[in-house]
Amino acid sequence: MKELIVDLAERSYPIYIGSGLLDSIAAYFDKHQISRISPLLVVTDAAVAPHHLDKVMAGLRHGGYKAEACVVPAGETSKSLAQLEGIVTAALEAGLDRKSAIIALGGGVVGDLAGFAAASFMRGIRFVQIPTTILAHDSSVGGKVAVNHPMAKNIIGAFHQPEMVLYDISTLLTLPVREVRAGLAEVIKHGLIWDESFVDWCDANAEKLLALDPEALEYALYQGCRVKAIVVSQDEREQDLRAILNLGHTIGHALEAVAGYGELLHGEAIAIGMVGAAKLAREFGYLEQIHDETKRLFEKFGLPVTIPPHLNTDKIMSAMMHDKKFMEGSMVYIVPKRIGEVEIRKDVKPEQVRAIVDQLKGGT
Ligand code: NAD
Ligand code: GLY
Repeated sequence: MKELIVDLAERSYPIYIGSGLLDSIAAYFDKHQISRISPLLVVTDAAVAPHHLDKVMAGLRHGGYKAEACVVPAGETSKSLAQLEGIVTAALEAGLDRKSAIIALGGGVVGDLAGFAAASFMRGIRFVQIPTTILAHDSSVGGKVAVNHPMAKNIIGAFHQPEMVLYDISTLLTLPVREVRAGLAEVIKHGLIWDESFVDWCDANAEKLLALDPEALEYALYQGCRVKAIVVSQDEREQDLRAILNLGHTIGHALEAVAGYGELLHGEAIAIGMVGAAKLAREFGYLEQIHDETKRLFEKFGLPVTIPPHLNTDKIMSAMMHDKKFMEGSMVYIVPKRIGEVEIRKDVKPEQVRAIVDQLKGGT
């Protein structure tokens, strides 16, 4: 088992990463003094529940916790105000109070949705992240919680840090292969923004990662969480540095919104966005090799590197203008300077972005 700390003074918390951690779930809850008197609500989705919910509920109940479950439909469309209301209803029915906690058992969708429910129920109660996707090594750390609006992704949300992240990587064995690939896009992102040697390691260990080799997975998730924890600890509320975590996200979020939430997986959309960012780097005079390497790496992991041609360029451009990263009249783009280092740029012109979108559609 590996452990990391997200260092945020009184809001600091650990990330536990290892196989079989859910076998001792009650011990972790004890360690973090989660209340046995106030009821807990475990939020999960319909694809995760058949594999992992019973174990969590049994572990908590045998450990003396009062826990009820709330199951939402699987997929990005559940990050909605309607599902948020459903969770609040379930919380009220289960009798949650201010000392209760909400437990997010699932991928980034459940983590963001249940986390936002915890941030808003009774103006904020405790919550625990139990990620079950590779992608959720990113979403479960850092306290960004949100639901979507049909016009813009993650636009209704809060910063609300969990009590702990309990990452039992044995849950990942039931993941569909497309989700494995999409999750690895965010793992690679953490290398691209921070650590060239980790990118090289991912490149060399692609086969093991795609085959869910436990040792390789534990190492990769530890490294991804490590980068995220360092960045979040320095800039919790994205005043500056944390923006680098958005590499590929300006284009990626627009693609998700225009395609209709769910058509392109989040990791797939940001893989395309990261190739777009590498194309922007070319515009700013950085080495062509950054682009070629980024594209090659994502192709090696079976991820898309072009925009599906049926997505309308005007709509993609317009979706970017509704993004949270559009501020004071200009868009913030994260651009790689080399593999392992990025810069935050506010001087990117819309016509440059349009040209990149066209290139991404043409595959050039
Ligand atoms: P997801 O939660 O939709 O999970 C992907 C699919 O896999 C779903 O169908 C889910 O039901 C299924 N699934 C999950 N775990 C499983 C398991 N162990 N076995 C079988 N099936 C399983 O998607 P995701 O890729 O985990 O997360 C994407 C979301 O995360 C997006 O909404 C994105 O915006 C958000 N995100 C948030 C942050 C943040 O900082 N808060 C960071 C990155 C991404
Ligand atoms: N995924 C971007 C962030 O957590 O800031």
